[in-house]
Amino acid sequence: MGRDALFDVRNRLLGSARFRKLAQKIPVFQWIARRRAQALFRLCSGFIHSQVLLACVRLQLFKRLSSGARDVASIAAEASVPEERMRQLLRAADALELLEERPDGRYGLGVLGAAMTDNPSVLALVEHHTMLYDDLRDPVELFRNPRATTAMSQLWPYASGDPARPLGTDDVADYTDLMASSQAMIAGQVLDAVSFRDCRRLLDIGGGAGAFAIEVARRWPHLDITIADLPAVADIARQHVADAGLQDRIEVVGVDASQDVLPGGFDAVSLVRILHDHDEPMALSLLAAAKTALDDDGRLLVAEPMADAPGAGALISAYFNVYLMAMGSGRPRRFDELAELLGKAGFGKLERRRTTVPLITGVVVARR
Ligand SMILES: C[S@@+](CC[C@H](N)C(=O)[O-])C[C@H]1O[C@@H](n2cnc3c(N)ncnc32)[C@H](O)[C@@H]1O
Repeated sequence: MGRDALFDVRNRLLGSARFRKLAQKIPVFQWIARRRAQALFRLCSGFIHSQVLLACVRLQLFKRLSSGARDVASIAAEASVPEERMRQLLRAADALELLEERPDGRYGLGVLGAAMTDNPSVLALVEHHTMLYDDLRDPVELFRNPRATTAMSQLWPYASGDPARPLGTDDVADYTDLMASSQAMIAGQVLDAVSFRDCRRLLDIGGGAGAFAIEVARRWPHLDITIADLPAVADIARQHVADAGLQDRIEVVGVDASQDVLPGGFDAVSLVRILHDHDEPMALSLLAAAKTALDDDGRLLVAEPMADAPGAGALISAYFNVYLMAMGSGRPRRFDELAELLGKAGFGKLERRRTTVPLITGVVVARR
């Protein structure tokens, strides 16, 4: 019997109410059934989990409890929520490990809530998701209509907007802020995976407000760095670079990298959270620009979450396939898909580097 036939038999059995009833009498099947029921229930209640998290963030519970556990009445009064309702929220948050009930009935931070204090990147992302969830109110409509105007496509206008319309500051400010705040989680992971010791000049294409370039400049003081991003984003980056006092080390150019000529003579080019934003034609245009900017044997660094990340591929795949669809272009790629794309663009000698949290980013290095 082939693999397909085996899958069919399994699914026919799982889909039969009679089989499920019979299986409930056999201990090993009882155990499997319990696990499956829990997995399905977790899927059904995922939205509730994310809304409990959002309520905790908006009511600033992590901040309020960061200096120690407190009783329900005082948390409720301070957050202007009726005490009984606050108790229900606290219990739900306890169940999700965001908060923790202490033996005396007070509530303090749970392990996940503790990780959210003093963590503006994650707090900003939680708030950002309200936009995605609005778009997902009617998921079927969203999947059916690739041209729908969504809140996400408005936030990320380069992904699906009219390429002939130049973007202004108002179009790019919100996504550039969001990227800059979440970059704090990423740069460290990438820089622990890649050394720039042997490089002289780095071009960061789609470098946003410059958060990644600034981290690289601090870690590798010998490196000359150029950021290339759309003109309105480049204006924001220039200001950030000046605020960091790095204007002598980091140059910023405002260009559409898919159309304009980029400066050349670099021995390293980085694409951090860029390729997964784009369908193949645009991804290939950006890779062609990277190739032109690189010296022979120059090094291309690609950093983004990958659909087959060790231990995190399933989470990345479920999340980014939907996130990027709502945004209007792109998809998370597996390493073999990325390798094929890079091969088509003329890059070789690929190395997949380990990162400590592959959920946050994967890293691939290739040569021109
Ligand atoms: C998802 S953000 C990533 C920003 C930054 N690399 C980071 O990880 O924080 C994608 C960036 O690519 C830039 N971008 C998109 N299309 C571009 C193009 N055609 N030319 C230059 N930059 C572009 C956007 O403006 C944005 O700053």
